[in-house]
This record gives sequence, structure tokens and C-alpha cells, in this order.
Amino acid sequence: MILNSIVPWGRNLSEYVGMFNITEYELKNSKILGCGDGPASFNAEVTALGGRVVSVDPTYQFTAEQIAVRIDEVALEVMAEVRKKQEDFVWKNIANPEALYIMRMSAMQTFLADFKRGKEEGRYKSEMLPKLSFKETAFDMALSSHFLFLYSDYLDEQFHKDAILEMLRVAKEVRIFPLMTLENVYSPHLDKIREILASQGYISEIVKTEYEFQQGADEMLVVRG
Ligand SMILES: C[S@@+](CC[C@H](N)C(=O)[O-])C[C@H]1O[C@@H](n2cnc3c(N)ncnc32)[C@H](O)[C@@H]1O
Repeated sequence: MILNSIVPWGRNLSEYVGMFNITEYELKNSKILGCGDGPASFNAEVTALGGRVVSVDPTYQFTAEQIAVRIDEVALEVMAEVRKKQEDFVWKNIANPEALYIMRMSAMQTFLADFKRGKEEGRYKSEMLPKLSFKETAFDMALSSHFLFLYSDYLDEQFHKDAILEMLRVAKEVRIFPLMTLENVYSPHLDKIREILASQGYISEIVKTEYEFQQGADEMLVVRG
């Protein structure tokens, strides 16, 4: 099943703010779509502050209890991987693997506590890129954190093109972080995707961000119509 083939692992609001240079004004006033938010606490935290976020992810077809079981299984695998590749990460804002574990588990608990209510309110929707159910420009911005470009070894150029064009259909602006793959190199799709977007009249820009945890991954792609 899908739940076993994907990695539910969630970041918190301050990480999203850092990755996407989200301003306080945008947090309060923008209608935001989070694509592949998984068990991140971004939606729960922004909602608690009075903001408006809808998250889409195939994981949301499952119950909070089922997702919690999967998080526990995956946490051990992810932490073993992080310890093995410790030098691939910047241990500055997050001091060490133990601090990372506490931070991510806390974010995921916040997500789990919010999930049932959020699903009832239509804030968590089980949907999969490259197809979204929303109307044209329903959102001010659509975000992809640790999904597009990162998994370039599994998701091809056609998928990236279709997914980003679909995000641009439903949102006025798209922000994608990181631009690197799991191997810490720029995504092989990045240049071609930017060319395709330019040929369709979109402006894309690589913007430096405040956030860097994976070594060298401190840039996002911003795309506007
Ligand atoms: C590594 S997690 C990132 C979670 C969150 N965005 C964060 O940064 O903390 C990748 C997420 O992408 C989701 N995903 C997988 N295939 C997807 C698809 N076709 N469309 C949208 N999300 C997908 C997975 O379920 C998973 O939750």
C-alpha cells in the first residue's frame, strides 16, 4: 500500500518559514496550499495563528492512528540513516540527531492532534500530484517541501513538469524547497523544468533562504505567472 512506500516525516512552522522565506504578512493573509505536507505541523500551527492552509498528501487517506504507527516505524529508519550520514547535515540550528528527533516527533504529534478536525474542516485532503481538485488560482501560493526535486531519482522530468504546472494552475505563485536530491546534488530536472516554464511564459527564480539543514540545500525555486 501507499503508506508503506512513502516516508511520513514532518517539519514544523519555523522550518517552513525558513525554507520558503514566508513573511508574517503572508502567513496572516495568504491562502496557502501545502503539497506533500505529510505529517508536518505547518497546517496545524498556521491554523492556530488564524492563517489559512490546505494540505494535500496521499497519506491523508489513512486515519491518525494508522499514520502514527507508520511514523514510529519510519522514525527509527530515518534516525539510523541520519546518524550514518551525519556529515551531510548542518548541525547549527539543530544541535545533534537527538535534538532533531525531539523536534520532528513534536511536530508530528502536533499534526496528529490536529488531523481529525482538520480533515473534517477540509484542511487535509487526500490528493496526489500531478492532479489537484482545486479551481484556478484558488490559492495565493503553493508550496512543496521535501518532495519535488528532492526525489528526482524516483520522479521523472515529466512528473515534475505536470506537477508544477498543476500547482501554477491553482496558485498564483509556487515555491519549491530544496533544489537538491537525496544525494546532495542539484536535481537533474531543475534546468530543463525552468526552460519549459519560461517557454510557457512563467518567470522562475532561484532564491536563497535562511534555512539549511541538508548541506548546501539553502535555495528555493519561486515561480510566478
Ligand atoms: C519527505 S515527506 C515531506 C513532508 C513535509 N512536506 C515536510 O517537509 O516536512 C514527502 C511527502 O510527499 C508525499 N507524497 C508522495 N507522493 C505524493 C504525490 N504524488 N503528491 C503529493 N504528495 C506526495 C508523501 O506522502 C510525504 O508525506
